[in-house]
Amino acid sequence: MRILVTGGAGFIGSAYVRLVLDERPEDEIVVLDKLTYAGRRENLDEVADRIDFLEGAIEDRDAVRGAMAGCQAVVNFAAESHVDRSIADADAFARTHLIGTSVLLEAAREHRVSRYLQVSTDEVYGSIASGSFIEESPLNPSSPYSATKAAGDLLASAHFHTYGTQALICRGSNNYGPRQYPEKLIPLCVLNALAGDPLPVYGDGRQVRNWLYVEDFARAIDLVLREGVAGEVYNVGGPDEEENLTVIRRILELTGRDESLIEHVPDRLGHDRRYSLSSGKVRALGWEPLTHFAEGLERTVSWYRDNEPWWEPIRSGEYRAYYERQYGRALAS
Ligand code: NAD
Ligand code: TYD
Repeated sequence: MRILVTGGAGFIGSAYVRLVLDERPEDEIVVLDKLTYAGRRENLDEVADRIDFLEGAIEDRDAVRGAMAGCQAVVNFAAESHVDRSIADADAFARTHLIGTSVLLEAAREHRVSRYLQVSTDEVYGSIASGSFIEESPLNPSSPYSATKAAGDLLASAHFHTYGTQALICRGSNNYGPRQYPEKLIPLCVLNALAGDPLPVYGDGRQVRNWLYVEDFARAIDLVLREGVAGEVYNVGGPDEEENLTVIRRILELTGRDESLIEHVPDRLGHDRRYSLSSGKVRALGWEPLTHFAEGLERTVSWYRDNEPWWEPIRSGEYRAYYERQYGRALAS
């Protein structure tokens, strides 16, 4: 199978590309990626000579048509992925998630691709105080990020119903692991702890996230692409739910730092309190998460400790300006 992977230079997309090439060497991969601040060619270094890499945006019809030619499947990871950036400015989110997804789906129809998988998020359901969301739960997104992701999901469903496009949707919970851009809670806190910078906790830090190791999500996506029923949604939740403060304390332990680095900062606007997914449907296809949070976090911290050449250019580039805007203070180092 020749698969178009959009957003393949990002955190989860690059893990997916590595997984497919490892487990299905007969498959061919084309990556289409705009290389935004979050997209990095280095994420694909290990497999550079085994893929076709095209730099381009999913909202660019010609780039998409060229990239999709000869492909039987499409997996759409391309996204603006950070909630805080969507609160500051949502334009790029609307462009990529609405227009980009629409362009991809139109091209998938034209090229009659056999499978189209839309990678989505638990955040489209909004916050849940107790229990877990199932695939039939109503969409109730709270941030511009999740609202525009929900729009992408609805477009994929509409193409299934209207044109019979073999579209599927995978909604994952919070991912973590190697190569995640350090704007997200875990890599941000790991790098700050390693550098001795404060760890910013939004509000009371008692918000709960359902943590999913990136390789477990990549395996679920591949299974749903190949075995899922077209037109269906599959929730993919991690095995553990943790409060943010618990995650932060564990990072401090693993980096040998003490709690004096914890700094409570003003809460995120519209902050969702808790996410939780029920994953019975994808488990019925044969998936289960292999990495528990304690082990995955240890592996993640070790990876960042051992891979300074990956993150040093980020911490010394545009990220410094982002950090100052977002946290109202400079990184100390
Ligand atoms: P990321 O920010 O690390 O990577 C996104 C990639 O998409 C980058 O390589 C970027 O250059 C590329 N991109 C952005 N806009 C593009 C455009 N218009 N055209 C082409 N490429 C573009 O994000 P991630 O964490 O790897 O997330 C991947 C997908 O998984 C997203 O769809 C996200 O919504 C979804 N998701 C993420 C999480 C999570 O916890 N990170 C959880 C569930 C679902
Ligand atoms: P994040 O990694 O941005 O993922 P999401 O918003 O998609 O869940 O944030 C995870 C949780 O950590 C969320 O409750 C917000 C919180 N958080 C902080 O407390 N401080 C931070 O600096 C960041 C980035 C997030």
